[in-house]
Amino acid sequence: MVYLNGEFLSLSQARVSVLDRGFLFGDGVYEVIPVYGKKPFLLAEHLDRLDRSLAAIWLHNPLDRDAWHQMIESLIDQQPPGDWSIYLQVTRGCDDHRDHAFPSEVHPTVFAMASPLKPPPAEWLENGVSTLTQRDPRWGRCDIKAITLLPNSLSRQQAKTAGAVEMIYLRDGVLTEGAASNIFVIRNGEVLTTPADERILHGITRQLVLHLARQADLPVREIDIPEATLRSADELWMTSSTRAVIPITRLDGAAVGHGQPGPMYRRMVTLWEEALARWRSGATIMA
Ligand code: PDD
Repeated sequence: MVYLNGEFLSLSQARVSVLDRGFLFGDGVYEVIPVYGKKPFLLAEHLDRLDRSLAAIWLHNPLDRDAWHQMIESLIDQQPPGDWSIYLQVTRGCDDHRDHAFPSEVHPTVFAMASPLKPPPAEWLENGVSTLTQRDPRWGRCDIKAITLLPNSLSRQQAKTAGAVEMIYLRDGVLTEGAASNIFVIRNGEVLTTPADERILHGITRQLVLHLARQADLPVREIDIPEATLRSADELWMTSSTRAVIPITRLDGAAVGHGQPGPMYRRMVTLWEEALARWRSGATIMA
C-alpha cells in the first residue's frame, strides 16, 4: 500500500497526472526515513528538513506535523514486520498546461511509500567499499532535497559500472559530498566534514555522527577539505539514512589509509550502536 493525496492505495491504483510538475520539471522535494521495528528513526529531524526544503522552493507544506505523523504511522502499520525506509515526496502538483512559472492555484501532490530496508552487505562493513571521484556536476542549492536527481543518478551509475559503490564529488578543489551520501574524513585523529552550507545536503545521519563524535569528545571540525587532504585521509566514511555509516577503503583505485576500516570507524560503530539501543528504549538521542 502507498499513500497518495489523502488515500492509501495499492501501487497499481496510485496514479498522478502527466501534467504534474514533478513529472514535467522535477519540481518537488523528498525525504527518506529509516524505520526500525515500526518506529521511524529521527523523524522530527527529517520533517524539519522537509519544511526547510519546501520553504526553499516556495511551496507551502500541505500537511501539518500531526497529519504527517498519522500518515507515516498508518503506512508503517500496513507493512509486514521488519525494517523499512519511508519515501516521502511533495511536488507542486498540476497546472492545465506546461509553464515553467508556477500555476496560480497550487495543489501539491503528496506521495509516500515504504520499501524494505536491507542492511548493507557484511562485506562492506568488514572490508569497506570502493569509491570514485568526479567534479561535482550539480547546481548551487544542494541543501534542498530536490527530486531532480539526474546528476546524482548518472554519477551513481558511472560508479556502479566501474564496480564502485559511491561517487564522491569535488567542487573548486574541495570535497562536497557523495552522490547519495555525506563524507567524513579522518586525519591525524580528527573527524572532518564539509560545512552544512548550500554545497551539500544537510544529512540527518551526518548530524547524528557529528553529535555522537562531539559527545564522545572526539576532535571534530566542519571545514572545507582540499582534494589533497581527502586523498591522504587515514579513514573515510560515508553516511546516509539507508546505510548508516559505511567505511570507504578505496578512492579512485588507491587504498585509503591502510586499506581497511580503521579504529575511528570502529569507535563510531560502537557509539552508533549504543545510541540506537538508547533510542530503542525510548530515549532522545539528539537534542
Ligand atoms: N540520500 N547527500 C545526498 C546527496 C543524499 O542524497 C543523501 C541521502 C545524503 C545523506 O543524507 P541522510 O543522512 O539524511 O540520509 C547526503 C537518500 C538516502 C536518498 O536519496 O535515497
